[in-house]
Amino acid sequence: MRERYSLNFDWKYADNFSKEYLKDNAKLKNEKTVNIPHTNIEVPYNNYNENISQFVSTYKKNIKIDKSFLGKVIILVFEGVGHKSDIYINGRHIYTQKCGYTCFEIDISSHVNYGKNNTVIVKTDSRENTDIPPFGYVIDYQTYGGIYREVYLDILEKEHIKDAFLYSKNTLSNIKTLVCEAIVSKESLGKDIIVKICDKKNVIIEYIQNIKDEKNHLEIELSNIKLWDTDNPKLYDVSISIEDNKTLFDRKTYRFGFREAVFRDDGFFLNGKRLKLIGLNRHQIYPYVGYAMPSSVQKEDARILKDDLALNCVRTSHYPQSRNFIEACDELGLLVIEEIPGWQHIGKSKNWRDMHQKNVYDMILRDRNSASIIMWCVRIDESVDDDELYKKSNEIAKSLDKTRATGGVRCIENSRLLEDVYTFNDFIYNGKNMVLRKAENITKNAYLVTEYMGHMYPTKSFDDEQKRLEHTVRHTKIINEAYRENKIAGVIGWISFDYNTHKDFGSGDRICYHGVMDIFRCDKLAKYAYASQSEKNDVLEVSSSFNIGEYPGIRIDKIYIFTNCDYVDIYRGTDLVKRYYPSKEIFNFLQHPPIIVDDIIGNLLIDKEKFTKEESDKIKDICFKIHDSGIENLSEEYKTSLEKDTLKLANDMYGKYVANWGGKGIKYIFKGYKNNKLVKTVVKGVNEHFYLIAKADTNKLIAADTYDSVRIEVSLQDENKNTLIYANDVIDIKTKGDIEVIGPSSFALIGGRRAFWVKTTSRKKGKAKVFINSERFDEKVIDFNITCKNILYK
Ligand code: GAL
Repeated sequence: MRERYSLNFDWKYADNFSKEYLKDNAKLKNEKTVNIPHTNIEVPYNNYNENISQFVSTYKKNIKIDKSFLGKVIILVFEGVGHKSDIYINGRHIYTQKCGYTCFEIDISSHVNYGKNNTVIVKTDSRENTDIPPFGYVIDYQTYGGIYREVYLDILEKEHIKDAFLYSKNTLSNIKTLVCEAIVSKESLGKDIIVKICDKKNVIIEYIQNIKDEKNHLEIELSNIKLWDTDNPKLYDVSISIEDNKTLFDRKTYRFGFREAVFRDDGFFLNGKRLKLIGLNRHQIYPYVGYAMPSSVQKEDARILKDDLALNCVRTSHYPQSRNFIEACDELGLLVIEEIPGWQHIGKSKNWRDMHQKNVYDMILRDRNSASIIMWCVRIDESVDDDELYKKSNEIAKSLDKTRATGGVRCIENSRLLEDVYTFNDFIYNGKNMVLRKAENITKNAYLVTEYMGHMYPTKSFDDEQKRLEHTVRHTKIINEAYRENKIAGVIGWISFDYNTHKDFGSGDRICYHGVMDIFRCDKLAKYAYASQSEKNDVLEVSSSFNIGEYPGIRIDKIYIFTNCDYVDIYRGTDLVKRYYPSKEIFNFLQHPPIIVDDIIGNLLIDKEKFTKEESDKIKDICFKIHDSGIENLSEEYKTSLEKDTLKLANDMYGKYVANWGGKGIKYIFKGYKNNKLVKTVVKGVNEHFYLIAKADTNKLIAADTYDSVRIEVSLQDENKNTLIYANDVIDIKTKGDIEVIGPSSFALIGGRRAFWVKTTSRKKGKAKVFINSERFDEKVIDFNITCKNILYK
């Protein structure tokens, strides 16, 4: 039976390499002990030279190969090492990997000494290498380095499953067919292959076939099967085993979802039903440690995208991402467009081009059993046409998987389409012009927008209110537009989270502030363009803090409420201003259009000042003109057209109810209703009390096959739970127990908040604490419970 051992703990690491290290018992220079996932160097949050992660390093580990493993097959599994790695066993070079984003497996059975210690050395070259995608020209993201994904040792019997591809046929009929294409080792010939489909612990069907060939094709008919979709991501366990009467040689279990995903010229269809894909791109980049984060953190990103942002789709720009992330997408029902490594540039060398093809192969081979994946992007993101290269990429994709569409992300119209879907980055919208290009001008075929926004409107979490609002409105307009046209299968915006980048991009500090959330996974307003479309949580996010001093000329120009409420009542202090409804006229295709608050005086002149409706309308009209241009800029002609004293009256009312530099600040209260039931209240305006809030995403840490890690968000809030965006208090973190802070333990808030991650430092169960201190608030303490899981898998 197959066994898996974690090799993620206690590697010796050196930020250099020497051939001397290949000799027996050699010590590495500046050696330290590290755990995987590991980044070759921790980088600062921003303002650093990206070259600091570009060097050659060494990872070394002694592994005991048990005597009982003799006669078995021993596989070393690397989930991802940036970017070129040479593997040595007991000083002998056995393998070179030239991609930092794909998984690789090496059969080391004939290289190890049984019953003895064996030395594994990984020489990791993290420099940009012109023979390896994505390198060769500039790149808009930091590429980091090191053994940043998990490492395992798999022990297999000679009789074992090498690979299995599962897919369904007749998926939409009552009787569905599960097809299993399994490749087994030649020693398995004559044994039986048994496929069991289980719903939780219950076996639904068991199918046995004698193994006559290394390639096995099984078709199994099933009834009463639930489909996998974005609302109910139903997964079945499909276990494949090699057995004979007496012995179980191997068993591998896959999580499988029955679903049909089809791109047509008129949109995307999941299980025969039209589904507009609404998504965001994701980089696997975290502050300080770059790509190196364990499973729970990868999975949390998928959860944020699906649950908090209410997306149904993500693109793994611009490379295959952690298996853990993809698994979470399967479990959560988040559709995935997966992409090979690359960024605009196609290398000229044969090596580079060969690697591109290999990357297509490796990506698909790893992930083709994932229900969430609906498309393979087989072209280099935004590269020019290259028929020779891309004809082959498509052929490779189809040879491995005929069930999924291919795409290849372009930024040019009418380029040569060798894929099934014309996937296009549409950056046309500048806030004034057309929101999305006309799909039929771009292609007659299936069409998907794979990027928008990004560099068209970079926005920081600490930008001023007007900018944060414009950022959010633009996202909202594009989603609305996507729904208008059936031909657009969906839109996937740039990008979910801010990310570290090269000097040639971003805001000069090595960050692209393109996210709807920041790099710490903290909210920006634009998150609510998406979150407000969800039915799950009650959302009511007001774009303004209602502080007139934030605006030029003290004129709060636009106020939006991003909400899924049916209507919102706004109160000025205790006085009801008016009931506001979603702006269906402007955002006519959205399920939950935002509310545009264009009249903040509402009924106050009638209710409080006892004007008639007609008088109130007249005064308000003047108030709005004063608001638009300032009283001093109203034309003489306009002023003289008004009845005597009206202008003064209107100006007084304007000062009283809208804005008066010298007046008292006021509270505004927003009450959101669904089905006439109050579901959410938000209070904005003047505040008096300030609180430091700290919250962990979870209080449970599980040290298992790797260390575990959890995010803690710290923010400064007022008495109404509003984050105080311009707060930059300095925070100091201390820990107790077997955990430590990732990155610096002392930092300033950014945009009123900041998150940090802690990670477990041992495989012992126990309690741990995090202490959060600042100069002016009481200490916050967060408790964690650490549990451990056995790190051997059978
Ligand atoms: C695209 C590119 C992305 C990112 C984006 C910024 O052209 O594909 O990686 O650079 O622009 O808007």
